[in-house]
Formats: sequence, structure tokens, C-alpha cells
Amino acid sequence: MVHLITSNTAIKFLRFNTSRLKAFSTAMMEKPEVLMTRCDIAPNVLEELKSRCKLTLWNKESAASRTFLLENIPGKSGIFCFLTDKIDKELLDTAGPNLKVVSTFSVGYDHIDVKECQQRNIKIGYTPDVLTEATAELTLGLLLCTSRRLIEAHEEARTGGWTTWSPSWMTGPGLGESTVGIVGFGRIGQSVALKVKAFNAKNILYFNRSEKQNEAKITGAVKVSFEELLKQSDFIICCCALTKETQNMFNIESFAKMKRTAVFINTSRGGLVDQNALVDALENGTIRAAGLDVTVPEPLPLDHRLFKMSNCTILPHIGSATIEARTAMAKLTLDNLMNALEDKPMPAQLKL
Ligand code: DGY
Repeated sequence: MVHLITSNTAIKFLRFNTSRLKAFSTAMMEKPEVLMTRCDIAPNVLEELKSRCKLTLWNKESAASRTFLLENIPGKSGIFCFLTDKIDKELLDTAGPNLKVVSTFSVGYDHIDVKECQQRNIKIGYTPDVLTEATAELTLGLLLCTSRRLIEAHEEARTGGWTTWSPSWMTGPGLGESTVGIVGFGRIGQSVALKVKAFNAKNILYFNRSEKQNEAKITGAVKVSFEELLKQSDFIICCCALTKETQNMFNIESFAKMKRTAVFINTSRGGLVDQNALVDALENGTIRAAGLDVTVPEPLPLDHRLFKMSNCTILPHIGSATIEARTAMAKLTLDNLMNALEDKPMPAQLKL
């Protein structure tokens, strides 16, 4: 009798575990293969990704090497990538026909060869909206830091240059009553306009491919030509995407058209600026000052001439670096990726 019970239990036990094992191996087999090129994102998002995919992960807090990308992309269905990864023809060719989606943890997509993806029917996910406020906020911070010389002033205070209060020392142009020109009037440009308006700017001008009448209403921003914007603005803020058309649009001619008192701010992409022309413009007094959150290359070499100029503020590409924005970007990149892999609509698919 005892013997019978024992063998029945054993059979039940075996059956139960065999079916669990089967379910587990089926789930493993069905999990899509994904390449992820960084590990330092919101831990809960990384955990979710690990549980839903067979993940090949660059397990370091640095940009993945090109060799890692090329060695690990073959056969993958998806890639969770960052603006530090070049998703070009070579990589897509190496990936092979399984690749369904490139999901980037960024709103910018100049690191992705969009045409090559389109030709292969590879979907692209990106992260608009969730970083708009963070980036616009940083843009205003950088503008004030540059125009009101905050870094220089802090350095003076720290190193003994602050000997007495002085009426003209450390002065810079105010934003109130000024004319502000915004190049690129998308989500971030519009949010910058709102913030600039709160600082009592007198005129807000914008240059954009299309007219944004409704979006401009609330701030009273006026569409002008690029040339007009350069000539009239006290502050010129660059908020547009890097494309073949916009590459080096701030060059020797553009700086020459600006006021000698102009302050130039770029939180978009370094490639929009001819950096040598900017160095000359700052050195020769063609313009007053510049604030850059983006450069070419990134990071900018420590011995670069821009670092030696007191009228240039440089930040290490931190436009979207609020905790909230980066967490939301991680989640949106995950959702874009998983939805595309599961043939569901992506929350933010790049459609050009
Ligand atoms: C982007 O998303 O493109 C920004 O440059 C970094 O967050």
C-alpha cells in the first residue's frame, strides 16, 4: 500500500515537473533575441527586458564597442540602442533578415541610417515627448549660465577674484526685453519659447521648415527667414534635428550675420555647427558667447580650444538628464521594442 502511494506520488511529481519544464523551454524558445548596448538604465526596465527577451547585453557602463555590435548582431530580432551606437548599413547587413526593430533610447536618430532600415522594413522606435521638458529646461539653464557668466563667476568667487562688490564686474546681457531666435520649432523649440516668454523676452522669432501658426500663438513667436533670425536675435537657440540639410548650418557666414553681442546656444547636435568657425567667431568677437551641450566629437578633447575660452560654456550632453526623463525614456524604448517584436503598434514609431 505504502509502496503504491509512493509510486503514484512520484508519477504525479514527474508529470508536474515535466510539464513545467516544457512550458519553460517553450517560453525560452519563443523569447525574441535582442541585443542591448548598455546596462546602466532604470533597473526595473532592464529586469523586464531580461524576463521578456533572450538578451545579449553589453555589461559595462560605457558605450558598446563596434566589435561587440558586429559580433553579436547576427540573428537578432531587435536592438535596444543609444545615440552612441552607429546603426549603419554595415551593421544592418551583418544583422541579417531576422532584425525587425531598432529601438533607440533617444529622440535624435542621426546615428541610425533610416533609409537602410526602411529598405529592409525594419521599424525604428524613438523617445519623443518624454524628454521635451527636461531638454528645454536645460536649454534655459545653459543660456543663463552663458549670458550671466555663472561658471566664470563661481570660479572667481572660489579662487579669490571676488575682492569687492563691483558695479560692472561679471555683467552680461539680460533675457528680459531681448529678442530670442529659435532655430527648429518642434516640441523642444516650442517649450523653450514658453520658458523664454516667462523671462519677459520682448520678441520671439523662429525658423522652421513649416509654419507652426497654432503652436506659435501662445508665445507670440513669429516665423522669419534664417537670415532675418540671425540678424535680429540677441540670443540664438538651436533646437533642430541634425540632417544632411542642417549639417554645419551655423558656419562662418551664419556667425558673421549675427550681432556682435549675440549669445549662441546649442542643445541639439554638435554637427549643426562648424566648430572651427565658432571658435573663430568667439575668439574674434564676431559674437559674444556660446553655450554648448553638444559638440563634435563627444566627449570634446580636453585640449580643445573651446575649453580655453571664458566666453564658452560646455556641458557633457546632459539635455535630457533628469531622473524622470531618463526613466521614461527607458520605459518607452522597451515598449517600442516589445510592441514591434509582438507585431503590436509601437507607442513612438519614427515615420518620416
Ligand atoms: C536625444 O535623445 O536625442 C538627446 O540628445 C539625448 O537624450
